[in-house]
Amino acid sequence: MSSYVTRKTPGDTAWFVHDRFGMFIHYGMYAMCARHEWTKGREHMTDEDYDQRYIKYFNPDMFDAKDWARQAKKAGMKYAILTTKHHEGFCMFDSAYTDYKITNTPFGRDLVREFVDAFRAEGLKVGLYYSLIDWHHPDFTIDKFHPYNTAENAEELNKTRDITKYSEYLYNQVEELMTNYGKIDILWFDFSYDGEGKWQGKGKEVWQTEKVIKRVRELQPGIIIDNRADLEQDLWTPEQFQPTFWPTHRETGELVVWEACQTFSGSWGYSRDETSWKSHDMLIRMLVSTVSLGGNLLLNVGPTARGYFDYRATEALEAFGEWMKYNSRSIYGCTMAEPEFKAPSGCKYTQSEDGKRLYVHLFEYPFRFLELPGLAGKIDYAQFLHDASEILYSEEDAVYLTDQYDTDLSGSVVMNIPVLKPNTLVPVIEIFLK
Ligand code: GLC
Repeated sequence: MSSYVTRKTPGDTAWFVHDRFGMFIHYGMYAMCARHEWTKGREHMTDEDYDQRYIKYFNPDMFDAKDWARQAKKAGMKYAILTTKHHEGFCMFDSAYTDYKITNTPFGRDLVREFVDAFRAEGLKVGLYYSLIDWHHPDFTIDKFHPYNTAENAEELNKTRDITKYSEYLYNQVEELMTNYGKIDILWFDFSYDGEGKWQGKGKEVWQTEKVIKRVRELQPGIIIDNRADLEQDLWTPEQFQPTFWPTHRETGELVVWEACQTFSGSWGYSRDETSWKSHDMLIRMLVSTVSLGGNLLLNVGPTARGYFDYRATEALEAFGEWMKYNSRSIYGCTMAEPEFKAPSGCKYTQSEDGKRLYVHLFEYPFRFLELPGLAGKIDYAQFLHDASEILYSEEDAVYLTDQYDTDLSGSVVMNIPVLKPNTLVPVIEIFLK
């Protein structure tokens, strides 16, 4: 058994740390702007310019939740988290508490419901993202992120805004989401912040986090909740960077359950013009690196305003599908390798939860020999994972043929690696330990 124990939390994370790989979906009216999900805020747009204009034309006529679910499943993802409302405040579900919602667009359907049904039907777990920030609600006070913070009368406007009304609204909507859509596996709040200068920040007092979460846990026992509502729950969520060690709890130093969330190209919403799309090779290495440090990867797709996944997203998902088809055994049910196993340079290890299998991911493909320190006497059998072809190795008197110098390889195993790199982006060697 793995010796790593994570901090106890209220939610059920057992399935989560087994499954390791999920899809984030950022979808809202910002798909029409196609230049960032923060467009309303960044460009300081008014409600007339943004809310009232886009709602008239939002019509993802090619949306097919089943197709999204099939693509996620084929890529090897085991769960998906959809934005039910992002910072713009637009609701992708048929909320009873607002008119600013998808059922009031030409599209006219409750997209959250179709998402939940289709993903569940494919056997994936479902999560809902809910933005605590809301740039549409008339009582949400203007702060450092709000689109109106450059308006001359911003402070004046704040005098008539009653944030407690917004808190009420938030509570009611979260209750709706936790009541009307069956079992929800993850609730992903986003996010809390400090104030600066004249602007007050927003955190657990404004969101009434304790009250909201108490209700959520009554309605959805076992649900996993992230930490972004300013109250520690189940999930630590590093974003847009890859941790270099297994994150630990600030006060106690315990290991925590964590999930890196990453984009294909930078923005979370559909971004037409970005040229920073990550290579397939880099994306797969990100998944492996995450699991090699005991974490999950939540990889984001921003569907187009017509409702389908952009070709660049689809191609990347297909690359994952191809790799996972042969190599998922090194991901599902795997975690950080035991401290006694130190991966050589150019490689990343993962190890199965039961401790019996060790996986060597060849980020750098070595020439003929791969030296694995400390493994002498511990290997029962070794093979490439993608085709189960045997890998020969020596562990006694492992020396290179040289008359120039001696290399001390005691305790190491030297594997014979074919010169021809297997036809897979990141080859994996599966070691059955004694
Ligand atoms: C950030 C951004 C947001 C995105 C989120 C995902 O907090 O505000 O656009 O939804 O990260 O982690």
